[in-house]
Amino acid sequence: MKTILVLSCLIAVCTAYSVQEDMLERHNKDRRRHKVGALVTSSKLVGISQTCANRNAKRNKNAHDCPASKGYGENLSWSYDSKGVPDEKAAVKTAYTGWYNESKDYN
Ligand SMILES: *[C@@H]1O[C@H](CO)[C@@H](O)[C@H](O)[C@H]1NC(C)=O
Ligand SMILES: *[C@@H]1O[C@H](CO)[C@@H](O)[C@H](O)[C@H]1NC(C)=O
Repeated sequence: MKTILVLSCLIAVCTAYSVQEDMLERHNKDRRRHKVGALVTSSKLVGISQTCANRNAKRNKNAHDCPASKGYGENLSWSYDSKGVPDEKAAVKTAYTGWYNESKDYN
């Protein structure tokens, strides 16, 4: 019984969806296709991003004026759900696709 409980917890942890990992994997999949190096997660940048996301959410604004991100490039995406329950996977896909779509504007 104990073993079964531990296993089910491990499976739950292992299959938990991660916005961060999904976004990283989407970037690296296209980066491999373009033959450029993979990105890795920076906990410093994750912290700055979260600070700015919280700030924007609190102000109900999608603005590039977060003091914490000064000196860094920044791409923003904003999404909402009328039911108040955000579909994280769909939001990540839309944000990534929107950003990637801009690659046609660059060489
Ligand atoms: C995304 O970030 C890069 C780096 O700061 C910037 O050059 C680009 O204009 C940004 N794109 C948008 C849509 O904000
Ligand atoms: C990205 O571009 C594709 C192809 O033009 C388009 O179908 C899709 O709606 C675009 N997605 C976003 C989020 O801009």
